[in-house]
Amino acid sequence: MELLRVLVVGILISWVLRVGGEEVMASQPGDIPAIYNFGDSNSDTGGIAAAFFPMAAPCGETFFGRPVGRASDGRLIIDFIAEHLKLPYLSPYLDSIGTKFQQGANFATGGATIRRQNESWFQNGVSPFPLDIQIEHYDQFKARTSYLYNQAKEPSDRSNLPNPEDFSKAIYIFDIGQNDLAVGFRTMSDEQLQAAIPDIVNQFAAAVQQLYKKGARAFWIHNTGPIGCLPVTTVNIHNPTPGYLDEHGCVKGQNDIAIEFNRQLKGRVTKLRAELPQAALTYVDIYSAKYGLISNAKNQGFEEAFKICCGHHENGISIWCGQKGNINGREVYGDSCANPSKVISWDGVHFSESANLWIANQIMNGSLSDPPIPITKASSYTKHM
Ligand SMILES: *[C@@H]1O[C@H](CO)[C@@H](O)[C@H](O)[C@H]1NC(C)=O
Ligand SMILES: *[C@@H]1O[C@H](CO)[C@@H](O)[C@H](O)[C@H]1NC(C)=O
Repeated sequence: MELLRVLVVGILISWVLRVGGEEVMASQPGDIPAIYNFGDSNSDTGGIAAAFFPMAAPCGETFFGRPVGRASDGRLIIDFIAEHLKLPYLSPYLDSIGTKFQQGANFATGGATIRRQNESWFQNGVSPFPLDIQIEHYDQFKARTSYLYNQAKEPSDRSNLPNPEDFSKAIYIFDIGQNDLAVGFRTMSDEQLQAAIPDIVNQFAAAVQQLYKKGARAFWIHNTGPIGCLPVTTVNIHNPTPGYLDEHGCVKGQNDIAIEFNRQLKGRVTKLRAELPQAALTYVDIYSAKYGLISNAKNQGFEEAFKICCGHHENGISIWCGQKGNINGREVYGDSCANPSKVISWDGVHFSESANLWIANQIMNGSLSDPPIPITKASSYTKHM
């Protein structure tokens, strides 16, 4: 028995080692049967909109032609990942209309944090569905769909249900943590926030462990982006003291905390590999992709990196994308720009579709991943367990 275990682990390790080279078993887009996604507005495909209020036009104008619950003019990174894996766009678990769950579900909600917060959605836009609740939703989704699938008498009774066998072959994607930092900037000193990072990262790890216990094996984990480069922050900074902004115009102190969060997250993912021997954990450096775009916008075919396409920001007053407001007696509409495809930031916080495509293209081939595995192969080293 012990020998067998050593053998299996040995095979697994050699497999992982070869993944960096060319020898990997040919695995194709289409081999991963489902995506389960957890996160915040960076990957929310309509969850928070279904739970509360719909997104306002002009969101969705570029691709969907109408607001579809995404904070962008079109597709998000998770949508490009779904396309690449030849899977349908993910339906939000919280949406009861027009949803399809055969090949995955999206538990992400705009404003979500890893840790539970004391703030409310109505005050500060903090999601009431933080990561631990998203995992609860997943548990319930899995249990109830599996029950119904196994009860079904006719194939047509299963038409909107995932095959229970696919849960262990699916890819589990995470993009969360940005709001833990954003709330921290608002409510804590830098020292307090730094001191909180180990707990935030541990609670993230607990979510991964819980999914693993329920049979999840392939995890694709985005780190957090350069939050100090969000135009909604930089637009209100005038005459900064030297060193407050970095060479590209991002708030250095905020990015330093994001970098520290990512350093600890990466370390925790490494530990998880030892704790969860059958898991394939891929850590994805989305920070570098986003910062690479922002610091090199013009060469990548974009306009000035901090331009906001949709919404209106002036003298500390913000009329958000799709909202109406009043500035000095003037009625102002948070309209969109003429050419969203040339702008990185859709609304000051979220990326435009063309920026999302650019970022997705950077990360999907594995060049920013640890280990450097393309997303199509992110689950192949657990296949024969
Ligand atoms: C929420 O408030 C409680 C009680 O004041 C405090 O102990 C806890 O640390 C707070 N949680 C967060 C995430 O700030
Ligand atoms: C991955 O894709 C990016 C963007 O197209 C490209 O710059 C990079 O060279 C690619 N890396 C690999 C290893 O294919």
